[in-house]
Amino acid sequence: MTLKWNDAYKVNISHVDKQHREIFEIAYQLENLSNARLNMDHYYEINKLLEQLITYAVTHFEDEEKLMPLYPDADWEQHLREHNSLIQYLSTVPSDYIYWKQAEFAKALSHFVRDWIEQHMLLTDRITFNLEPLEAIHKPSNS
Ligand SMILES: [Fe+2]
Repeated sequence: MTLKWNDAYKVNISHVDKQHREIFEIAYQLENLSNARLNMDHYYEINKLLEQLITYAVTHFEDEEKLMPLYPDADWEQHLREHNSLIQYLSTVPSDYIYWKQAEFAKALSHFVRDWIEQHMLLTDRITFNLEPLEAIHKPSNS
C-alpha cells in the first residue's frame, strides 16, 4: 500500500491535519527511497529523512499533547505510549547500522512508519479528536 494523504483522514483540527499531512509526505519519501535501487548509496538521504521525521514528530506530539486538557475522556496514557514508541524507535537506531544496512534499514523504517501511521494517526488520533472537546477548537481545515 502506498501512503497517500486523503481528506477522509482529517481530524478537523487544522494545525493537526497539516502536520499529519507533512508526516504522510515524509513517509511517502521514505517508501520511495526504500524501493530505490539497492546498490546505490542513500546514506545521506536516509539520514536526512530520519532526522526530519524525528524533529517533525517531536513538535507534532508536543502540539497534540497541548490539546490533552480539552479531551479529558481520551485514553491519553495509551496515546502517549504510542507517541513515545515512535520517538524511541527512531532515536535508537545506530548510525553504523544505517550505513552498512541501508536498504534493509530503509525498508524496515518505511514499514514501521507506515504501520505506526495506520495504527496511530488513522486510529488513535481520529478516535481521540472525534470526541467532544471541552471548548470549541474545531476549525474547518481549508488546505
Ligand atoms: Fe497522536
